[in-house]
Amino acid sequence: MLRTLRSKEPRDSMAESKTAIARRGFGATMRRDAWWIELIPVVLVLGAFSVYATWRTFENNYYEFESYLSPFYSPLIKPKWWPLSPAILILWAPLGFRATCYYYRKAYYRAFFLDPPGCAVGESHPHRYSGETRFPFILQNLHRYFLYVAIIFLVILWYDAITSFWFDSPTGKHFGVGVGSLVLLTNIILLTGYTLSCHSLRHIIGGNVDCFSCVVAGGPRHSAWSRVSFLNERHMLFAWLSLFSVGLADLYVRLVASGVIRDLRLL
Ligand code: FES
Repeated sequence: MLRTLRSKEPRDSMAESKTAIARRGFGATMRRDAWWIELIPVVLVLGAFSVYATWRTFENNYYEFESYLSPFYSPLIKPKWWPLSPAILILWAPLGFRATCYYYRKAYYRAFFLDPPGCAVGESHPHRYSGETRFPFILQNLHRYFLYVAIIFLVILWYDAITSFWFDSPTGKHFGVGVGSLVLLTNIILLTGYTLSCHSLRHIIGGNVDCFSCVVAGGPRHSAWSRVSFLNERHMLFAWLSLFSVGLADLYVRLVASGVIRDLRLL
């Protein structure tokens, strides 16, 4: 009896303090750290990236230079019946992949919706948590399908990165290294890290297996799962680095294509 009473005490007091925080309203918390600081870079970086990506999507210019192709416009699809920017035809896929990413969801729910603004911090409108079971947030469950499409995009962007090392000459194509080649290569390496560290991918490979020695190809599957788990622990890092790299890769192609800067040839 005594044990039962004791084990209930901490839970009761936690429930009481949660209710008290909810009653005190938005921003109420017992946390003493500067929890709000981490919201600022998310708002600034995601906000700036969204504005830049939207502008570039509709700009419909300066996306190619010699063997370089901006990742915002790859694969380059220009059907005759489509009068607008070709980027609109393809960008839904990588943007959908990022928008439904588990890490980014946490980041933008906190930073933009303030729902909640942080762990153990009061919301503006306390409500019953319904998860992502209702429209529109139920669409977040499409993440796995965006992952499949993202893997196809990875293959295409690897092709673009490799192609960027081959330049036209009077005698045909020749191997060379430009700053743009390195920019596109760095970008696809980081995008690969981001995609391979995806939580959904980790689940597909081995997250749903209780016993690796009991399933077909359990050994290779376990080793793949261990590698993906290693990357998965760094998913947040890849999420940010690849966001910067894809934006900077597009910016670089735009600057050389528009003649603002010259592409430096290293080889
Ligand atoms: Fe972030 Fe899948 S969870 S890309």
